[in-house]
Amino acid sequence: MSDFSQQVAIVTGGGSGIGLAFTTLLHSKGCSVVIGDLALTEDAKKLVECAAGKVVFKQTDVTNWKQLAELFSFTETKLGAPDIVCPGAGIFEPKWSSFWNDTEENSYKTIDINITHPTKATRLAIRSMIRAKKGGTIVHISSIGGQTTRLSVPIYCATKAYINHFVRAFAGLDDEQGIRVLGVAPGLVRSPLWFKENPDKLKSVGENDLWIEPSEIAEVLLECCEKNSQWTAGTIVEASGQGRRREVKVFNDEGPPGIGRSAGANMSLEDDVLAMLKEERARKY
Ligand SMILES: NC(=O)c1ccc[n+]([C@@H]2O[C@H](COP(=O)([O-])OP(=O)(O)OC[C@H]3O[C@@H](n4cnc5c(N)ncnc54)[C@H](O)[C@@H]3O)[C@@H](O)[C@H]2O)c1
Repeated sequence: MSDFSQQVAIVTGGGSGIGLAFTTLLHSKGCSVVIGDLALTEDAKKLVECAAGKVVFKQTDVTNWKQLAELFSFTETKLGAPDIVCPGAGIFEPKWSSFWNDTEENSYKTIDINITHPTKATRLAIRSMIRAKKGGTIVHISSIGGQTTRLSVPIYCATKAYINHFVRAFAGLDDEQGIRVLGVAPGLVRSPLWFKENPDKLKSVGENDLWIEPSEIAEVLLECCEKNSQWTAGTIVEASGQGRRREVKVFNDEGPPGIGRSAGANMSLEDDVLAMLKEERARKY
């Protein structure tokens, strides 16, 4: 077991859900954590208050490169270079950044948050660790949606497929620099992601889908950060609930079948998309 008590972590999206569960777990192991997020949930505020400087909030919009870089420089100045970086902030293609509800004004913010931010955060983390002449772990949060895909959320699933392949590219960095890049791909997690903004999202969850608690995913993220972890650098670890984990292989992977491994079994959101397109086709232009 690693000793995390002298370690420093940066967790983006640490103000809620999985990121908050990971922050809480790291804190319980004595690790100092800087949360980079737009805001804190009530539970996260309590954690920051009780942690007496060991959990710090730095308000950050991860799509703003200047703010993302400041998150790293703030951490270095206050606590030292990070040993663990989890670029966990992510969104599930909300209506204001959805493929199907696009407008001429909005960009696909989902790509900025779910792809560009973890990409840039990885570069910043590697730079920071190398400058400090230390190794460390960069652990991403992918999703089972990176293997399966859905018509209703095509961008979300594609962003997570990107993370899977992006992570694999860094397998060799461990031997070279002692920097381990890994990813955890959860199934359906009972986090605010599902319950805030448009509750329509819940239409993609089936009656038999298995909800996983954020704390279980936090345990898998921590496993990835262990010095003698069973998970080697460049691995995507699927976490499908009830303690199940497996590596998602790059070739000939069997995929995520079975309860807890679906990205949501209910297809009524797909029906909504098809109805919208039918209406679009019938429209007079
Ligand atoms: N909940 C699930 O079922 C599930 C499953 C697989 C993967 N994931 C992934 O887990 C990660 C965490 O999601 P969660 O379920 O804990 O959701 P969540 O909504 O509880 O947490 C996401 C956090 O990201 C933050 N965030 C969003 N945009 C940001 C921005 N521009 N700048 C800074 N912070 C921003 C939010 O404020 C929030 O605190 C995401 O990458 C998500 O895609 C979630």
